[in-house]
Amino acid sequence: MFRPTVASSFPATVAFAMGVMLQLIILIIIPSTVVVEAHTKTIPADSSKLDEWIGHNMKEYNDRKTNETGIKALDRRLAEAEDCVQLITVRKDGRGNFSTITEAIDSIPSGNRRRVVVWIGGGVYREKITIDASKPFVTLYGQKGKRPMITFDGTASEFGTVKSATVAVESDYFVAVNLTFVNSAPMPELGGTGGQAVAMRISGDKAAFHGCHFIGFQDTLCDDRGRHFFKDCYVQGTVDFIFGNGKSLYLKTTINSVAEGTGVITAQAREDATDESGFTFAYCNITGTGDTYLGRAWKERTRVVFAYTYMGTLINTEGWSDKMHGSQPRKSMYYGEYKCKGPGATPSGRVKYARILSDVEAKAFLSMTYIHGNKWLLPPPDLSLSPSKPNIFH
Ligand SMILES: *[C@@H]1O[C@H](CO)[C@@H](O)[C@H](O)[C@H]1NC(C)=O
Ligand SMILES: *[C@@H]1O[C@H](CO)[C@@H](O)[C@H](O)[C@H]1NC(C)=O
Ligand SMILES: *[C@@H]1O[C@H](CO)[C@@H](O)[C@H](O)[C@H]1NC(C)=O
Ligand SMILES: *[C@@H]1O[C@H](CO)[C@@H](O)[C@H](O)[C@H]1NC(C)=O
Repeated sequence: MFRPTVASSFPATVAFAMGVMLQLIILIIIPSTVVVEAHTKTIPADSSKLDEWIGHNMKEYNDRKTNETGIKALDRRLAEAEDCVQLITVRKDGRGNFSTITEAIDSIPSGNRRRVVVWIGGGVYREKITIDASKPFVTLYGQKGKRPMITFDGTASEFGTVKSATVAVESDYFVAVNLTFVNSAPMPELGGTGGQAVAMRISGDKAAFHGCHFIGFQDTLCDDRGRHFFKDCYVQGTVDFIFGNGKSLYLKTTINSVAEGTGVITAQAREDATDESGFTFAYCNITGTGDTYLGRAWKERTRVVFAYTYMGTLINTEGWSDKMHGSQPRKSMYYGEYKCKGPGATPSGRVKYARILSDVEAKAFLSMTYIHGNKWLLPPPDLSLSPSKPNIFH
């Protein structure tokens, strides 16, 4: 029982009342905390719980396919596709089904309805690839421990920015695992035009990237449109190197600026109030050089949130810019920061429109619901044993 040891002269009634109060507090606080924990949907504030949260939100296909009724049931189309997985292999040494990724993609029929995993052996593939909208359910899977590289050098002056991409994906339910996407065009000259060069453009809905690297300078990653998930990735560039109108969650991703002067990480393209797009970064690490901004307002309602992210000294103290070069300042951007760390995260010098989010404000951006992930996000297949055993997919 409750027994005040120091204040033994307390009247017994006070001590008793305090004891009851303490028990009440314990009763009230502990069960409610437990309940909140059990149902929490948001990315945990405690980094040691992050992997558990990811595991909980990315359950295996076999745990989910039979549950057609629950809110966590997979999209039916996806469940059907995952039920008949096809594997094809690409190897530079000729021992695979194909020796280029382009041939492998060409072999997938338009109107494809099954998951096709394209296993890619180590090496450098100099190819410019488009996976068009008629080919959903494609997984590009890099050989474990090798992270094969797909590289090309298209530029805006030659193709237009959007079409400069080394790999462009226009189909839904795309997955990439352990690959490096490179645009090897040179760093654009200061004040020059047409040097933008995209390494990856993702324009399909419900796409996931696990352990992928995106390497370029200006406009490296075109997160064009649709809902996307990035985990354990690495994005490198100089200006606007994550840009577009996607609605995306970036987890545990390193963002590395190689800018020599002004650098800009994001140029998010949300324009209408009804548009749900926006980029959320959680538990990311911002490293590198330059005088780098977290984002600049490409379109009127640009929306970007950084949470639990480490920001190195490269981040400009103002943090954000409300205009693109030459444009009038925007008025309706949404630029949020939540529990970030590091020398670049100091709120004192921030522009006045930067929002330091409250718990309630941050919540909407920090769950799988943000990208409706529970309907489609699956863990990547494990092909570590052998690429020739399709039965180890799920
Ligand atoms: C199906 O999912 C719902 C909601 O997620 C859950 O309540 C139910 O227990 C699940 N059923 C099975 C058989 O797993
Ligand atoms: C790919 O190669 C494997 C092994 O040679 C073979 O069994 C399979 O039928 C090939 N698949 C295609 C689509 O060519
Ligand atoms: C990706 O590569 C890393 C490093 O080789 C490895 O630890 C990881 O298991 C790979 N992921 C998958 C899904 O194969
Ligand atoms: C961020 O990346 C740098 C460079 O790789 C590394 O030294 C640092 O430990 C990382 N910080 C965090 C918080 O992950």
